[in-house]
Amino acid sequence: MSTERIATVVGDLIRRINDAIDEHEVTYDEYHAAMNYLIRLGEAGEWPLFLDVFFEHTVERLNQGEGGTIRGPYYVPDAPWLEHPYVLPQRDDEKGDVLILSGTVHSTGGRPVPGAVLDMWQADADTYYSNVQEGPPPFNLRGRMTADDNGEFEVRTIVPPSYHLPRGGPMEELLNAAGWHDFRPGHLHFVVSADGYEPLITQLYFEGDRYLDSDVASAVKPELVLGLRKHDSPEEMEARGLKKPFFTTTHEFRLKPQDG
Ligand code: DHB
Ligand code: FE
Repeated sequence: MSTERIATVVGDLIRRINDAIDEHEVTYDEYHAAMNYLIRLGEAGEWPLFLDVFFEHTVERLNQGEGGTIRGPYYVPDAPWLEHPYVLPQRDDEKGDVLILSGTVHSTGGRPVPGAVLDMWQADADTYYSNVQEGPPPFNLRGRMTADDNGEFEVRTIVPPSYHLPRGGPMEELLNAAGWHDFRPGHLHFVVSADGYEPLITQLYFEGDRYLDSDVASAVKPELVLGLRKHDSPEEMEARGLKKPFFTTTHEFRLKPQDG
């Protein structure tokens, strides 16, 4: 970043914060409480959570636009490569309804993108992310897979229930203190990439989730909310080799060609 850019953006941030302090006549007690809070936020390692909840959605909108949304703080690189038929790594007794997500990776022009890579991750039904929080084994509900020659893929996982941010730290303390809830709608995370295209960072949500309109991270877009179809006939379960009802849904990811 150039000196000029830093002076412009940081200078404006400082000016606007000063304006807010002025407008709300912030006291010394409040100033010191804020300082103490920000120090504790860092000590707890929650700066990425704080910034991604309150600000990433704006950066994302400016830089990705339609079909994308925030990455959030819990992406972990080098997730295992999955083999056909794709099943996101999970415990034998993984909690949650079975979800079969099928779909395509297309260019924004509508052409299939053969061999596109889908890097996928989600929290478990108790809202814990593997490799981040205690509980799930390493790389639970994280995996990488490729679309086929027609840009198509299918993966089995669990339906993500409504999600709340990690609790017990400064972030929860702030949300409670302001009287705000800490929920996001249940979601699946993706980075979809292919040679010659801009990587697409996005999430998928599901109709009926009670937090679609009040996501604490402001990261829901209508084109990312999918309907779920329930399958509970013995024939359908048998055909899938499943002993319990399952849900299906489908989505088209659209990748933007580089330099264009
Ligand atoms: C945030 C985003 C997520 O997807 C998540 O699971 C947790 C936090 C965030 O915006 O900080
Ligand atoms: Fe998430």
